[in-house]
Amino acid sequence: MTLSPSRLMADSPVKVNFPGQADSAPSVEDQKRMEQSYNQMKRKMSIAQMGKAIKHKIMVLSGKGGVGKSTVATGLALSLAQEGLKVGLLDIDITGPNVPKMMGLDGHRLDVMDGRIHPAKGHLGVKVISMAFLLEDEDTPVIWRGPIKLGAIQQFIGDVEWGNLDYLIIDFPPGTSDEPLTVAQSLPDISGMVIVTTPQDVALLDSRKSLTFAKSLKVDVLGVIENMSGYTIHGKSMPNEDIELFGPGGKTINATADDSGLWSATLDIFKAGGGKKISDDFNVPFLGALPFDPGFVRGGDDGVHRIVSEPEGASALAFADVVSAIKDQVEKSSSSPGLEII
Ligand SMILES: Nc1ncnc2c1ncn2[C@@H]1O[C@H](COP(=O)(O)OP(=O)(O)OP(=O)(O)O)[C@@H](O)[C@H]1O
Ligand SMILES: [Mg+2]
Repeated sequence: MTLSPSRLMADSPVKVNFPGQADSAPSVEDQKRMEQSYNQMKRKMSIAQMGKAIKHKIMVLSGKGGVGKSTVATGLALSLAQEGLKVGLLDIDITGPNVPKMMGLDGHRLDVMDGRIHPAKGHLGVKVISMAFLLEDEDTPVIWRGPIKLGAIQQFIGDVEWGNLDYLIIDFPPGTSDEPLTVAQSLPDISGMVIVTTPQDVALLDSRKSLTFAKSLKVDVLGVIENMSGYTIHGKSMPNEDIELFGPGGKTINATADDSGLWSATLDIFKAGGGKKISDDFNVPFLGALPFDPGFVRGGDDGVHRIVSEPEGASALAFADVVSAIKDQVEKSSSSPGLEII
C-alpha cells in the first residue's frame, strides 16, 4: 500500500472498540479523539521501544544549503554498513530529497503493512526512509503545510519498523528549521549531531549558527566535518622530477614525482582548514575532511554512491576516518538530557 502526505495523516492504523461503547456510544468526534489519543499513546510506546532498539542516533545538519549534508549522511551510513554494522538512514528533507537517488531507491514509494511503515533496503543493506517516498510525482512540487510536515516526521519516527540498529543517521534540510526541533522533541536519547561545512567563509558563518542552534536543542555536538576540502590530481612525469602547478587564485603548487614518475597534488578549491578553525572556535571536535570528488556528483546522478562504486577509493577511506572519529565521540558523549519528549 502506498501513502500520500494527506492520507498518511488521515489514516489511523488502529481501529479501537472502547469499553462501554455499546451502552452509550460516543459521538463521532469523541470516537475520533479517543482513537487519536490511543494512537498517540501507541506511538509514544513505540518511540520508547525504538529508543532502546537503536543504539546510536546521529543528526546531520548544516547552516547552509548545498554543502553536502545528504552526500555525507549517505556516506556515513554506507561507511558504517561497510563495517558490517546495522544501519538506518532517515531522510527528512522534503525540499531536495536526493537520498533515495544516492541509495539506488529512486521512485520507491512508502511501504505500509499492518499500520507500520517498512523501510526500503538500499545499497549495502542500509534501511532507508525518505520523505521522497511520499511524493506522488517527483516533478510536481508538494506544498507541505507545517503541521502536516511535522506530523509526518513524528509518524516517520514512531511508526517505522526499523528493527534493531547500531546506527540511525538522520539527514535534514539546510538551516535551523522546524525539522530538527521536531526530531529532538520526538526521539529520545539522540547521541548527537554532526555539522557539515565547506571551507568557504559563508558556509562557515552559517555553521556558527547551527552550532548555536545545537545548544538550544540540547543535543551534543559530536563535531564538524569539512566537506569538499581539497581536490587531488595525479600525473606522471620523469622519475623524481619537480612539478610546478598553477592553482586557483594564482597560487603555485609544488609536487615531486616518485621513482616511477608518479605525482599527486591537492588543490584547495574552496580554501582549506575552515572546518578545523570553527571547531576550535566553538571548542567542539573536528571529525575530519572529505575531499572534493567529482565521483560524488556522478553518484548522485547514476544512483551509485562513491563508497559503493569505489569502496577502496580515497573518498571511501576519508569517510572511514570520519566514521572512526564519530565513533570515538559517541563513546565519549555522556547522553545529554535533550529536550522534553512531547
Ligand atoms: N565532496 C564532494 N565533492 C564533490 N561534489 C560534492 C561533494 N559533496 C557533495 N557534492 C555535490 O554537491 C551537491 C550538493 O550535495 P548534497 O545534495 O549532498 O548537499 P546538501 O547539503 O544535502 O544540499 P541541500 O541543502 O539542498 O539538502 C551535489 O551535487 C553533490 O553531488
Ligand atoms: Mg540534502
